Amino acid sequence: MSDSVFAAVAQAPEDSILGVTVAYNKDQSPNKLNLGVGAYRTEEGKPLVLNVVRKAEQLLVNDTSRVKEYLPITGLADFNKLSAKLILGGTSPAIQESRVATVQCLSGTGSLRVGAEFLAQHYPVKTILIPVPTWGNHPKVFNAAGLSVQTYRYYDPSTRGLDFSGLLEDLGNAPSRAIVLFHACAHNPTGVDPTSDQWEQIRQLVRSKRLLPFFDSAYQGFASGSLDADAGSVRAFVADGGECLAAQSYAKNMGMYGERVGALSIVCRSAEIAKRVESQLKLVIRPMYSNPPIHGASIVATILKDGELYNEWTVELKAMADRIISMRQQLFDALKAKGTAGDWSHIIKQIGMFTFTGLNADQVAFMTKEYHIYMTFDGRISMAGLSSKTVPHLVEAIHAAVTTIGA
Ligand SMILES: Cc1ncc(COP(=O)(O)O)c(C=O)c1O
Repeated sequence: MSDSVFAAVAQAPEDSILGVTVAYNKDQSPNKLNLGVGAYRTEEGKPLVLNVVRKAEQLLVNDTSRVKEYLPITGLADFNKLSAKLILGGTSPAIQESRVATVQCLSGTGSLRVGAEFLAQHYPVKTILIPVPTWGNHPKVFNAAGLSVQTYRYYDPSTRGLDFSGLLEDLGNAPSRAIVLFHACAHNPTGVDPTSDQWEQIRQLVRSKRLLPFFDSAYQGFASGSLDADAGSVRAFVADGGECLAAQSYAKNMGMYGERVGALSIVCRSAEIAKRVESQLKLVIRPMYSNPPIHGASIVATILKDGELYNEWTVELKAMADRIISMRQQLFDALKAKGTAGDWSHIIKQIGMFTFTGLNADQVAFMTKEYHIYMTFDGRISMAGLSSKTVPHLVEAIHAAVTTIGA
């Protein structure tokens, strides 16, 4: 062992989110429940492949003219056009004026990373502000790309809602032209989004300070069940004619998790600039992974370009969103019925895949040890991992944690 050239390599810690699943998999209890990872589960607790995805996949398999040649560096052209349309809207002037450079990337994470690498090389200010809290991978992605990460206030634990004045103050004090990361909708982990009036004030401030918005859109359609409504924040920023970036993921809204399908769009002031931006994105991508995989993007493009399949998708997506909303109600009702101390109304106020329960790290550890319920230590639970059958077990655990450990 000691003569290994890697003998000095230290054991790295488990990823704080994916590590929850590792611990869950080791647990032998029949009652174990994984509310850590953000992946949709059916009422039966099973992963879901959408019918429309199966159908599109079958169409592709049956088409023997299809080959497995390399895609261009920027990915599947149809997929890129349709993805830009999905996030920016069918009638977006930015698309009509060819001011959007879109590249297919490896899901949401890959899209964020390519965008960050591009900014690190071509944008004069290397500072990005991210909300507190945010998805745990954000600072890692941006640091790895060479950006310097600062934060802005977002969540107020005392109200379990948005710290809007803190947010405005911190963005107001940001270095001029700094990049600002926004969750397009269904903020992870808090489930707290600005209202459209608040978005409008944020937009005015961002534009007046000439900050550069970078939207992370990992949950379009998952928050409200409507693809258009969930893209409202991004569209408002594009409607003012200014520039921005958007990273899209099809992991959650099409259940394409492991296929790694996503897109990065950079909205520019002119078609000529967008063309140059795209040429530089190719230089970012080529040494990273050369070109993206063909299969998942072909499935997504097949669905997006066919009216019937698209409609079927929206119905299945709404059903997922509705199941999550009903889980919120069931959990809230059950905690109230049990008389568990505390105000749990945030469970039904927050939106999207997660509830930021307000449970502290000791309470989470207690629930994992005593009830085999797995979640991140910040008290975030995936509502998509819950079902009518498992709500009572979770309520027992929360009740015991709150009673035994206290706040
Ligand atoms: C806020 C946010 N951004 C991006 C992602 C990226 O996901 P993926 O790379 O699987 O598309 C996630 C996934 O959990 C997320 O929650």
